[in-house]
Amino acid sequence: QASPLGLIGLGVMGKSLARNFANHDIPLSLYNRHVPGMEEEVALQCIRTYPELKDCKGFDDMELFVNSLALPRKIFLMVNAGPAVDAVIDSLLPYLTEGDMIMDGGNSHYLDTERRVKDLQDKGIHFVGVGVSGGEEGALKGPSIMPGGTTEAYHQVAPFLEAIAAKDAQGNACCAKVGSGGSGHFVKMIHNGIEYAEMQLIAEMYDILHFHGKISLTEIADRFDEWNKGETNSYLLEISVIILQKTEDGQPLIDVILDKAQQKGTGSWSTTAALQIGAPFDTIAQAVLARIISSQKEQRLKGQQLYNIKREEIKNIDTTILQKAYQTARMINHAIGFETLRKASAHYQWDLQLSEIARIWTNGCIIRSKTMERLIEILDGFDDNILFHESVIPQLIKGNVALKHIVQHALGAGAAIPVLSASLSYFNAMIQGDSSANMIQAQRDFFGAHTYERKDKEGVFHTDWEVSQ
Ligand code: 6PG
Repeated sequence: QASPLGLIGLGVMGKSLARNFANHDIPLSLYNRHVPGMEEEVALQCIRTYPELKDCKGFDDMELFVNSLALPRKIFLMVNAGPAVDAVIDSLLPYLTEGDMIMDGGNSHYLDTERRVKDLQDKGIHFVGVGVSGGEEGALKGPSIMPGGTTEAYHQVAPFLEAIAAKDAQGNACCAKVGSGGSGHFVKMIHNGIEYAEMQLIAEMYDILHFHGKISLTEIADRFDEWNKGETNSYLLEISVIILQKTEDGQPLIDVILDKAQQKGTGSWSTTAALQIGAPFDTIAQAVLARIISSQKEQRLKGQQLYNIKREEIKNIDTTILQKAYQTARMINHAIGFETLRKASAHYQWDLQLSEIARIWTNGCIIRSKTMERLIEILDGFDDNILFHESVIPQLIKGNVALKHIVQHALGAGAAIPVLSASLSYFNAMIQGDSSANMIQAQRDFFGAHTYERKDKEGVFHTDWEVSQ
């Protein structure tokens, strides 16, 4: 009997997704390229290892794999983003027929996805870029799924994707067509950008409390655990509690983890993409930069030696104020992320439904949180910056005072808090009707005759700046 779905790529994520499909009574055809040196086919080995895959078929021959699928064929790719995706598509094409569809569940760049959608459209093949979040455990137990593509293609693959997705508080699948073209991967990329800044904010809280507040790791874990019960609840805060509590040979594990953050690229992709469409990306760009600076450990050590300026102790940190500052910065970070989605939607004509995106981010994904649940309502029918929503304004009127207090003290004590301070700068800038950009305009006109507009009259002006009046 023909399989309703095929899956290519049995790495960590692919394997977990295959088991998730099988656990939902979706028998698959599994393909993995032949791995030299391995006697048995990877797919067959996988089927034997996991009992739930017993009704699946395994292949390392592309033609046989494709022919084992029911028409129109639906093929899910879980291969490394980049050239590997194009290579797999090329090897599939000779065996596909019009109306078949390919889904790419990797972290592909959205512009690659846009290109693939167009190229394959000409051949009568549907291509759906599918953002998948939740890591290995999410893939197995229920990820958040962000597909982009045509409505026709989505309707055909929806029963499969919605079956394996995490469920929201109402029991609905955390999976929805987010828009057309490459929008699924764009949305996933912005998810990762928000994720970078959320992670960095927790790191900054740890920095202030531990290195400046001289508070023990167990106490910080207790504090974070408290925070996690209230409005600051999030998956990332929850795992940070466990991280702080983890010991190895009686020593806290975090103390021996090298402080050089790595990255696979989605954070910097999202920053580039945001800047290209003119979306301010303050917190997320700073989170990416913080990872880059962290990786320059040798230089940082040299700087420490050359300057010998010690971090100052901050006594009696008021953790209620700190929590308020943290939550305010998070709100601003989410505002920045969703503003970028709004701008991209207009720019690429994707018709993104922001409230629906918040909904599918409430479970299964890395940035699931209480705040995200609240954003479903805030963004529902609201076509403006989250910071301007009537329910957010009173919170930020109080919250920005806490944020200012913490940023002033921590920066003054020598802390590097790029995301906290970027969130405050963004907030300050967004609530000032008058900015200092008149100075920039005058400078541009001075050295380059770039002209400027005026507040007091219509038109475009240029001044001979060095000619005295
Ligand atoms: C997810 C994650 C995932 C991402 C990793 C690693 O939503 O499941 O965002 O897609 O690849 O978190 O990303 P970095 O190596 O860039 O930190």
